Amino acid sequence: DWTPDIFVETTIEQLKEQIGNDQVVMGLSGGVDSSVAATLIHHAIGPRLHCIFVDNGLLRKNEFEEVLNSYKGMGLNITGVDARDRFYDALKGLTDPEEKRKAIGRTFIEVFDDEAHKIEDVAWLGQGTIYPDVIESVSVKGPSATIKSHHNVGGLPDFMKLKVVEPLNTLFKDEVRLVGKTLGIDDAILGRHPFPGPGLGIRILGDITPEKVQILQEVDHVFISRLKQHGLYDDVWQAGAMLLPIQSVGVMGDERTYERVVSLRAVTSVDGMTADWCHLPYEFLADVSNEIINSVKGVNRVVYDISSKPPATIEWE
Ligand code: XMP
Repeated sequence: DWTPDIFVETTIEQLKEQIGNDQVVMGLSGGVDSSVAATLIHHAIGPRLHCIFVDNGLLRKNEFEEVLNSYKGMGLNITGVDARDRFYDALKGLTDPEEKRKAIGRTFIEVFDDEAHKIEDVAWLGQGTIYPDVIESVSVKGPSATIKSHHNVGGLPDFMKLKVVEPLNTLFKDEVRLVGKTLGIDDAILGRHPFPGPGLGIRILGDITPEKVQILQEVDHVFISRLKQHGLYDDVWQAGAMLLPIQSVGVMGDERTYERVVSLRAVTSVDGMTADWCHLPYEFLADVSNEIINSVKGVNRVVYDISSKPPATIEWE
């Protein structure tokens, strides 16, 4: 029978044999899969695993610093790269969701390739691929699509010519979490909601500016921290906020306001393929709405998305 302890033990031995004395480079996202995969490889080869964590300017509030620190606390050999301006430049003026995804994917590849070149004699690319990623051969929105479109334009970046090491490619998500627990990885990482690679970039409808990112980070931060405070975070599969490309009239004191609208989204799901909107308690929604409107400058209206997937999707773009 499969147990996480035996998996960890045998996988570390296999990784030692597979990698030998080589160097490995790997991009981390703060998500469960890449964190667990990196920890396994780290156990096998220590600092010869070179991790790269990119701030694309589209992460949650404080996420870059917090995740980077927790990776450092885990002893990983990790470099944090502040590439916010590069991403904002690449996104400037883009409004089409797929164009935005492509720009984000392309920029990530460029930044990662630049960083990977700084490491001498890299032979392997570490990846957090899990079994469902392997069998899901065609992904319309996923990173593979981005990589393919990049490939068509200018040839493969160098890091993609590396041999690939994927220690989790036989596991399902729940097994990855059990392995993570056995490895002593923080519950804050293992219990994280999924977060899309393009991040807040596909939750800001229309074009992206640093100012919009900052507003959405604040709104999202209120929503997520309240979910945690009210003990609701673990009942929700994924949650976040969308910054809508409209303004609405409001009133503050004697003043008429004309400000932004945000939509909150929280869903239950098993694998993201179908999803139901969460029936969050009204008192909770009232609390979050008040807190957002009172504390986030530039937002005067909060709505809650009650659409299920299908026919709606989880993200709005
Ligand atoms: P949708 O919006 O298609 O989302 O119902 C399903 C799940 O996929 C995530 N998602 C993405 N993840 N790159 C990603 O890495 C993307 O471009 C992307 N688009 C959607 C979404 O957050 C949800 O978990």
